[in-house]
Amino acid sequence: MELRVGLLGVGTVGGGVAELLLGEGAALKERTGGIGIRLVAAADIEPKRLASLSAAGVEVSKDAMRVVSRDDVDVVVELIGGADTAKALILEALRRRRSVVTANKHLLAEHGEEIVRAARGAGAALGFSAAVCGGVPVLLALRTGLVANKIASIVGIVNGTCNYILTRMSLGGTTYAAALAEAQAQGYAEANPALDVDGHDSAHKLTILAALAFRTPVALSSVLSEGISGLDVLDLRYAQDLGYVVKLVAIGKRAGDRDALDLRVHPTLLPKEHPLAAVSGVFNAVEITGHAVGRVMLFGRGAGKEPTSSNIVADLVEIARGSAARATDQLAFWIDRPPMPILPPGEASTRFYVRFTVRDEYGVLGSMARILGEHRVSIASVIQKEPHEGDATNGVPIVVLTHAARAADFRAALDEIDACEFSIRRAVFLRIEEA
Ligand code: HSE
Repeated sequence: MELRVGLLGVGTVGGGVAELLLGEGAALKERTGGIGIRLVAAADIEPKRLASLSAAGVEVSKDAMRVVSRDDVDVVVELIGGADTAKALILEALRRRRSVVTANKHLLAEHGEEIVRAARGAGAALGFSAAVCGGVPVLLALRTGLVANKIASIVGIVNGTCNYILTRMSLGGTTYAAALAEAQAQGYAEANPALDVDGHDSAHKLTILAALAFRTPVALSSVLSEGISGLDVLDLRYAQDLGYVVKLVAIGKRAGDRDALDLRVHPTLLPKEHPLAAVSGVFNAVEITGHAVGRVMLFGRGAGKEPTSSNIVADLVEIARGSAARATDQLAFWIDRPPMPILPPGEASTRFYVRFTVRDEYGVLGSMARILGEHRVSIASVIQKEPHEGDATNGVPIVVLTHAARAADFRAALDEIDACEFSIRRAVFLRIEEA
């Protein structure tokens, strides 16, 4: 017996999948319990990529729909990415009762409900382990190893490109633009890298993670999402001086006693002793807290050819073993349940880092402290820095770390301080996640 695979898209990740299937055939067959996984057909708009596959006996085509409609394809692996074409191909494959494996987090975050419904209706399997964290089997862990738990929180670094850029910038000597170009050259970034650096890719992944972790439908629009493109290297440096590192972090928590979900993606100060603070370069990690297991952290490469193809092939093995269709059926919560309430962003309570740029005059610090206090924001520490080099405005940076405060109170205090005549620039703030 064998599982016959049609591969759509032979770019970075697709090339890795093809290499694994062609190179590890015998080992995989042993692990499925005797079912071979054979790549029978592949499609890509770039013919050069198909030459080696053709030489290996795989039928190649520029037409992805042709692969989907073949009678001898049992499972379609969609790695084209994007939205419309990929969605049409996946739905057509499911309509034909083929199983589908995809790493398309964007599509799942936006149309997960429709796709899960189609898979369930077809009795077909839907594998998407590679959609979150590249090669780290975090979705698999949520579905299997951690299934006994009520999950309290997931906190993770889920975008390799952003983590790579921030790591390179923090080490010094690399500009934002140069670090992004490096990440692109290594095949980590999305075709449109704005999806990475503006936080959307992390928001897509958090949508999927939260759906599985909290067993609820999650709308992409319920994730507060901020990226790293507006970050000032000055704040990375000040954060370091204060004992923190800045990471783009995706956070999903059951908030307080309301059983509402707090879903956020934003640049975050992590204390250096936080387990995620040491996660550098393209590496991703997700810390999951379950009521029985406590804290668990999964760590590994979050993007790139080989790591991502590892999770794709894991899905194919699960399909070959026959367990994947049952797993897809268990995603019923994604479509059958009313969504959990979402905590309004203003209600989320965190500590804050804030950099004010103000006139260096008497009474300014006192006024700022008074305004923060009036908005129930308590100061944990204050440092006045030297003026920015070449700044002729007589402005000085004042960096404040707060105790936990309601976001709406904090923002109201900032607005009031920004409007004061002593404020030279708008305050810059980042949230702090405790260890
Ligand atoms: N662009 C993504 C990243 C690829 O950098 O993490 C993996 O999803």
